[in-house]
Amino acid sequence: MQVNNKIVIVTGAGSGIGAATAKHFAAHNAKVVVSDIKEEKAQKTANEINQNGGEATVIVANVAKFEDVEQLIEKTVAKYGKVDIMVNNAGIGPKNMARTAEYTFEDWDNVIAVNQTGVFYCMKAALQQMVKQGGGNIVNIASLAGLKASLNNLSYCASKFAVVGMTKSAALEYATKNIRINAVCPGYTESALLDKLLSVRPDMDQRLKSVIPMKRYGMADEIAEAVVWLASDSTKFITGQTITLDGGTSL
Ligand SMILES: NC(=O)c1ccc[n+]([C@@H]2O[C@H](COP(=O)([O-])OP(=O)(O)OC[C@H]3O[C@@H](n4cnc5c(N)ncnc54)[C@H](O)[C@@H]3O)[C@@H](O)[C@H]2O)c1
Repeated sequence: MQVNNKIVIVTGAGSGIGAATAKHFAAHNAKVVVSDIKEEKAQKTANEINQNGGEATVIVANVAKFEDVEQLIEKTVAKYGKVDIMVNNAGIGPKNMARTAEYTFEDWDNVIAVNQTGVFYCMKAALQQMVKQGGGNIVNIASLAGLKASLNNLSYCASKFAVVGMTKSAALEYATKNIRINAVCPGYTESALLDKLLSVRPDMDQRLKSVIPMKRYGMADEIAEAVVWLASDSTKFITGQTITLDGGTSL
């Protein structure tokens, strides 16, 4: 997979799928900007990359704040001169799972702000730079919840359907600009996000596994490999697509 010497930003790279993705890019000789809202988590990922002979820099950013996202792009360009690949991975779930009538305004607003508006902000700022430099590549992390119904999880489901729609719309807009935009849709994947869900609802563990044809959760590394592949020169004719990694759940 050809990503060597590419300049890559990964948001939410302090944990789970984002951390695995940052490490995979670094292992393929890309230079990685490890971004997260939590500095110490981002630093941990970056330290691991640098200790293993890769190149990583930390830039703290809250994707729900456009000023933060702008400075993320500006600082990356100041250091490396460009942004080749932007992985919009930062995402959260609701505090409480509930049916729509009981869903809190707080859970609606917070999840939409990070998962949906955050991806818009990151694409907006990255695309301004990518058009200027004559090309680029964006991979958005959506979810199986962006393709099918998700019980008691309305804002998360809405935000991920939006990510799929934004991916397709922006891909169409920039197809002639040497910019490809795709999304991955992971099913249940081992991570802090899933741990949080299972800590509130331990009974869900067996139930979730029972609906996954492969009878196991995905691994963050498995998602990361698909992200690197989509961002690489191996997929030059793919744009506006969603790749589902769910052990067959959507079948
Ligand atoms: N784990 C799963 O089962 C699963 C399934 C489908 C999709 N996803 C998606 O994958 C992405 C990564 O999830 P994960 O499971 O690795 O979660 P995670 O909780 O392990 O990691 C998310 C990271 O994002 C950071 N973050 C949270 N809010 C942020 C903000 N406002 N700005 C910047 N960073 C922020 C967190 O600090 C954390 O490091 C999310 O978009 C999630 O919706 C996860």
